[in-house]
Amino acid sequence: MQVLVTGANGQLGHELARTVPPGVDAHFLDRTALDLAGPDVEERVLALAPRIILNAAAYTAVDRAESESDLAFRVNGAGTGALARAAARLDARMVHVSTDFIFDGVSASPYLPGQAPAPVGAYGASKLEGERQVRAALPGAIILRTAWVYSAHGANFVKTMLRLMGSRDRLGVVADQIGTPTWAKGLAQAVWESGLGTQSGLTLHWTDLGVASWYDFAVAIQEEALERGLLSRAVPVDPIRTEDYPTPARRPAYSVLDKTDTLALLAAPRQHWRAALRQMLDELKEQA
Ligand SMILES: NC(=O)c1ccc[n+]([C@@H]2O[C@H](COP(=O)([O-])OP(=O)(O)OC[C@H]3O[C@@H](n4cnc5c(N)ncnc54)[C@H](OP(=O)(O)O)[C@@H]3O)[C@@H](O)[C@H]2O)c1
Repeated sequence: MQVLVTGANGQLGHELARTVPPGVDAHFLDRTALDLAGPDVEERVLALAPRIILNAAAYTAVDRAESESDLAFRVNGAGTGALARAAARLDARMVHVSTDFIFDGVSASPYLPGQAPAPVGAYGASKLEGERQVRAALPGAIILRTAWVYSAHGANFVKTMLRLMGSRDRLGVVADQIGTPTWAKGLAQAVWESGLGTQSGLTLHWTDLGVASWYDFAVAIQEEALERGLLSRAVPVDPIRTEDYPTPARRPAYSVLDKTDTLALLAAPRQHWRAALRQMLDELKEQA
């Protein structure tokens, strides 16, 4: 096996499957084929003997992680560490995908890859534990952090907004959390390039370009969806504060990632988040 991709059924896994570079022999495993919470992850991967591992699997239920932190840590910490140990024993490359949620969100400027992590919730803490285990087992691994991921496949903010905008008369959306919406297809191209490249031991940041609040993102989704006939009428969208939309998990207020080094290193196509959103909505329209 040349490339093993975990998390095949997720947003990123799905986009990785759509963007396999020519000539690459890639095998995609979903949770039933390789459960990162299972006891035998390292042995199973050793038996498959990939040359490259792209880890797109993760426990990603941010709010549920607050009450299921054991499971979140089993998958995002120990299971991810087992993948990295297998990669080390096979002398394989590994790209591990991580998150902006390892940062505390109090910065006023984009987070650099080397900046000190300080997660504010269980999900971010479990992902940080994964980063630590990957780095300890396989110092040459590429850790690629991303943020606010969406795609036509799977559940995400864009699809939730379309559903709510189609069924409600008015919507309040959090305006005091700032980040960068990121289309999983562009992310997949960056992951492929990182996996097939020769650089090692790097922590990279990849998101689409620009910044937005969830409110800005929602307004853009509505405008673009109306233009494409994915919504038939506009509803008022009100900016609200995080404290007026309580959730089990705290989230970083500001989680823009500094991508300067990554953009200099990778040739993967990069674009402003709004341009990427248009392409994703075009795809949704084709599917409809
Ligand atoms: N989504 C975001 O906004 C976001 C933001 C920053 C970073 N990231 C990171 O980006 C990566 C890809 O995220 P995504 O958006 O593609 O997430 P996703 O759509 O939730 O996909 C994650 C995949 O992991 C699988 N998975 C969950 N538990 C597993 C286990 N025990 N063993 C094996 N597989 C398991 C899920 O399987 P099922 O399909 O069976 O549930 C799912 O297919 C993750 O590392 C995530 O932490 C995501």
